[in-house]
Amino acid sequence: MKFSAYLIVFSLFLSQCSSGSVSEYCMEASEFDRGLSYDFCVAFLSNWQPPSSNLEDYWVNSIQLTKSNGTNMLSVISKLLDDKSIDEHMKGGLNGCFDSYNDTISELDAAVVAFKAKDFDTAGTKVSESLDTPIACELLFANPTGGNSSPLTTENNAYFKLNVIPLVVLQILKHSS
Ligand SMILES: *[C@@H]1O[C@H](CO)[C@@H](O)[C@H](O)[C@H]1NC(C)=O
Ligand SMILES: *[C@@H]1O[C@H](CO)[C@@H](O)[C@H](O)[C@H]1NC(C)=O
Repeated sequence: MKFSAYLIVFSLFLSQCSSGSVSEYCMEASEFDRGLSYDFCVAFLSNWQPPSSNLEDYWVNSIQLTKSNGTNMLSVISKLLDDKSIDEHMKGGLNGCFDSYNDTISELDAAVVAFKAKDFDTAGTKVSESLDTPIACELLFANPTGGNSSPLTTENNAYFKLNVIPLVVLQILKHSS
């Protein structure tokens, strides 16, 4: 009795391993992109399940969502650049962020092209660059004395999160291809 219970547990364990788990894919995603911490990934995706079918469509949709968020980001930044009460130092940071987001948006198109050609490594590299964009943007507002005066922290955090799922889904697809 006891022995068969062990067997069941053991084979459950094995099937979990072969089908992969969120923590395994988070591990791979965080190795692929050091900007994504493993702990953050696992906590963020604790209630997430990959869809059981049409994972490719799901991935493309998640990139479109990220891209439209990035496009909104450009208008948020443009508005701030037009604001006369914002000082020149901060405008320097905002200009840098604008350029990074603008580049990232065209890189996301390139990611979709690579993805459709089943070149998951190139697609991953582009998503990585996209995930790193809000991190680099925040750094432009770091104060020499410590702290950060970024006016974009909330939006940067939101944009960052939108990249986590596509990066993780790529690891799943790498396993099944
Ligand atoms: C990006 O999407 C998030 C989540 O839906 C939202 O909270 C955020 O305001 C969006 N960013 C912009 C710039 O629209
Ligand atoms: C945004 O990126 C596009 C495509 O790379 C480029 O043609 C355009 O000049 C850029 N816009 C700005 C305002 O830098």
